[in-house]
Amino acid sequence: MRHETDVHGSIFFLLKKFVDHNLPLGTWEKLKEKARISRPDYEMTASYPIEDIGGILVAASEMTGLGEDELKERFGEYLVADLFTLYKSYLQPDWKTYDVLIHTERVMHGAVRKLNSTANPPILNVTLVSDQLLMIDYFSKRRMASLAVGIIKGIAKYYNEEEKVIVRSVTPLNDERVQIRVEFK
Ligand code: HEM
Repeated sequence: MRHETDVHGSIFFLLKKFVDHNLPLGTWEKLKEKARISRPDYEMTASYPIEDIGGILVAASEMTGLGEDELKERFGEYLVADLFTLYKSYLQPDWKTYDVLIHTERVMHGAVRKLNSTANPPILNVTLVSDQLLMIDYFSKRRMASLAVGIIKGIAKYYNEEEKVIVRSVTPLNDERVQIRVEFK
């Protein structure tokens, strides 16, 4: 049975792609071994324990010397292009970073929930403070807000807006509820 903190196979698939892209061939298998993961591979239609991601990140952190939050953030940045390809039909052509963020909960994560009964994206409450400031409240027992920070930065990069979009979490990154401030200069 699915557990509340399980993570969708698509995220594991993209994590493997991220590792393959950035680290030498064979690293994914080494990381799985270090994390004592024996399942052969991850399928796009199933969900898997968050502990697998945790174990892979700990092993990757030891291997690269980068902190786990840093790795999660970089992974978030990396996966945006693929997420956008997968869910392209839900993105309007005139949207930029601000628009994608204000539509993520209802449109994007909404589509994910509708299309994949096995997926369970986090709840993101976005407050439109002004046209220069969004406050994003992240709620998830998976405690992956640094991935959220990376995804937001990745979206800004995707639209060539990284110079004008400033992303900063204003509460501790590893909580179940994290507030992220996104400023548009
Ligand atoms: C193009 C828009 C987006 C798409 C298509 C998308 C899709 C997904 C999917 C498929 C998952 C896996 C859910 C599961 O494990 O069951 C996920 C998880 C996640 N999404 Fe999104 N997402 C989008 C935008 C965002 C944005 C803008 C943020 C942050 C502000 C975000 C934050 C996260 C985080 C942190 C997770 C990991 C699971 C968790 O923390 O509970 N996503 N998303």
